[in-house]
Amino acid sequence: MRLRIISLPGDGIGPEVTRQAIRVLEEVARSFGHEVELTEKEIGGAALTAFGDPLPPTTIAACRASQAVLLGAVGSPAFDRNARELRPEAGLLRLRQELGAFANLRPAVFYPALRASSPLREEVVKGTNILIVRELLGGLYFGQPRSIEGAMGARQAVNTMRYSEQEIERIARVGFELARGRRKRLLSVDKSNVLECSRLWREVVTRVGADFPDVHLTHQYVDSAAMILVQKPAEIDVLLTENMFGDILSDQAGGVVGSLGLLASASIGGPVGLYEPVHGSAPDIAGQGVANPLGAILSVALMLRHTFQLNNEAECVEAAVVAALEAGLRTRDLAKAGERSVTTTEAGARIVELLGAAAKTKDRAAS
Ligand code: IPM
Ligand code: MG
Repeated sequence: MRLRIISLPGDGIGPEVTRQAIRVLEEVARSFGHEVELTEKEIGGAALTAFGDPLPPTTIAACRASQAVLLGAVGSPAFDRNARELRPEAGLLRLRQELGAFANLRPAVFYPALRASSPLREEVVKGTNILIVRELLGGLYFGQPRSIEGAMGARQAVNTMRYSEQEIERIARVGFELARGRRKRLLSVDKSNVLECSRLWREVVTRVGADFPDVHLTHQYVDSAAMILVQKPAEIDVLLTENMFGDILSDQAGGVVGSLGLLASASIGGPVGLYEPVHGSAPDIAGQGVANPLGAILSVALMLRHTFQLNNEAECVEAAVVAALEAGLRTRDLAKAGERSVTTTEAGARIVELLGAAAKTKDRAAS
């Protein structure tokens, strides 16, 4: 198979982790006889510096013409004072929109090897395997009107949370379908005791649920869901929620399983899938070679699964990550005080090595 991919390394630690993810992708291709056609483009601060635009037309066109996009991270303090449309983050938000990527899947899995990395007791976090399904193109992120207006000292800021039934229904269907392939439980998170958007959300999700009688649907307010996520994370299967709540709860889920650096994401629903680690550009550690590339590497696994339907290949990448952690691989974010940690490049190299072994085992099992 020929895999036509655009890479958008972006800012901060984005280029470092993307480099390792690409090595892993290339190793998968070598082991399984695929061909990777990879083109690099600019986004975020890198694009602002080069073109004065966080999402230049050349980047959009290239992404649209590809099959999948692998993104590193966007964001840099250098642009903190820019107008909203000229911030690195605006490039990512527009890209999600351009690609019609309304469904953001963020798995949060607890690996027993990382029992010491989670802030929770092992008996609480054990068995945690959550899939957050975050609506990605609606709500406060995109609602109009939005503004900051008025005279200094008396300014007012406005954001609009807006959801249509159709937007809620399409993401709900994604959530239910995914729950069907898992433990068949769907937790829908809203704030329907306060917000109109959430009342509509709950009504539509409940209605869609009637088409999925095999999936057990429950609802929670977002404050209560935040508590459950730390008290009983293992009980959550698929967590379906709107854009802003999903942004917040997915970082929390990263903390629960030990490090945000582990979390991968897939943004799908449009013609081209967008894959990126959940962590940001982490300017404080950029360029030091200490970033955790596992979130980016696991994003490659999601790409193989969701865009290319290469399930075997995806499982091999995931198995290599588990094997590496079992064997004691720890980047700095995962290492305990005094424990030896590996660099970003060493972590990537180790996954590549283990991948060869995992692929051979698969081959043998298949033949
Ligand atoms: C994320 C990030 C983005 C978001 C930022 C960088 C715009 O926090 O993917 O979770 O808020 O969606
Ligand atoms: Mg976020």
